[in-house]
Amino acid sequence: MEHNVFTRFCDLAYDKAGIYLREGKEALVATRVAKRVKALGLDGERAYLEYLEKDATGDELVAFLDAVTTNYTFFFREPEHFDIQAQLMKRWAAQGPRPYRIWCAASSTGEEPYAIAMTAREAVGEDVDLRILATDLSTRVLATARAGVYGADRLEKASKEVVRKYFKRAPDNARGERVYSVTPEVREHLVFKRLNLSKPPFPMKGPFDLVFCRNVMMYFDLTVRQRLVNDIERLMGPESVLFIGRSETLGGLKTNLVALSAATYCWPDNPLLEGGRIGGK
Ligand SMILES: C[S@@+](CC[C@H](N)C(=O)[O-])C[C@H]1O[C@@H](n2cnc3c(N)ncnc32)[C@H](O)[C@@H]1O
Repeated sequence: MEHNVFTRFCDLAYDKAGIYLREGKEALVATRVAKRVKALGLDGERAYLEYLEKDATGDELVAFLDAVTTNYTFFFREPEHFDIQAQLMKRWAAQGPRPYRIWCAASSTGEEPYAIAMTAREAVGEDVDLRILATDLSTRVLATARAGVYGADRLEKASKEVVRKYFKRAPDNARGERVYSVTPEVREHLVFKRLNLSKPPFPMKGPFDLVFCRNVMMYFDLTVRQRLVNDIERLMGPESVLFIGRSETLGGLKTNLVALSAATYCWPDNPLLEGGRIGGK
């Protein structure tokens, strides 16, 4: 790919979604862009760039951002966070009935927010007053998430009991593979919305008891991460907890949040930091 074409794709990804591509990402951008070039029947990357820049509807920008983002996820990824979620919700439930509001930012194809709902029901029971806001930039992954139908490979980290309770076998997919559908009881806790994490302030008022913002900050530079964390802080109540990806860090950011457990953060006066320490398996 010509260097100036690559640079313009990078600028677009950064300006519109905070996604920092740059050095070493030429091959990735070329492969992803090639799919759009083919889908539109255009004559190469430069022609696609011009098409993208001229498209006043914004539809191709959505498709471009869909193409350059990585959506890898599966049910109960980084399982220690679901253990912590269960422990927290059990403690809160022991103080009496209450609503639970959870934000799953960068929810991708839905495995993460559905797993959060399943964990909540297992921890505090099926009558739980639970609402989960699941957001992502990509319209393509949001459509998959709303459909809530998954191949068996995505469920490998789910216990047999969870699969039995919260999934129904659906007709095999077009490739003849076994697929499972999330049950309506779980789905009713979730709302899926498109939200760009690089453009705070977000329209939500909060507070959220738990915020899952995992495996997305790694695509952002320090400036975008700082803006994002500032607005997450605004949406956290005194006892709220933030989960980020195990390979991510809040290091280098201005924040008063402190580590509660691995990749798990709370405010410094959270009582859990004294005595009642909490942690994943
Ligand atoms: C690797 S997936 C992480 C999924 C899930 N949180 C997990 O940990 O398994 C990253 C997700 O971030 C989304 N994403 C990337 N840039 C974004 C942005 N600016 N705003 C919102 N979501 C974004 C992508 O569409 C993708 O679905």
